[in-house]
Amino acid sequence: MPYRNRYLFVCTNRRADGHPKGSCAERGAERLLAQIKDEIRKRGATLEVRACSSSCLDMCELGPIVLQEPDNVAYGHVAEEDAEEIAVAAIEGGIVERRVLQKPT
Ligand code: FES
Repeated sequence: MPYRNRYLFVCTNRRADGHPKGSCAERGAERLLAQIKDEIRKRGATLEVRACSSSCLDMCELGPIVLQEPDNVAYGHVAEEDAEEIAVAAIEGGIVERRVLQKPT
């Protein structure tokens, strides 16, 4: 399989119930990953964009977290409703600005 134009790393880390940090899986990241994969597949873009599960990306409180690479973009508070827009943006080389997390200064 070829190296893709873009990768979407979806944190699907799960912590024990009641953990103070919570986790992306607890906030629906596993379903989110499945939906993003499905949107990429529906558009015939699996050789251009790959969505993968990731372990903890250390932005837990802002999850679910998705990293778009090589654009060096982190999305936070991603909802299932965002799956299509994120997939299309990755395919087209765009960014979903309203979900971008700002880097600490
Ligand atoms: S659990 Fe997803 S960033 Fe930590």
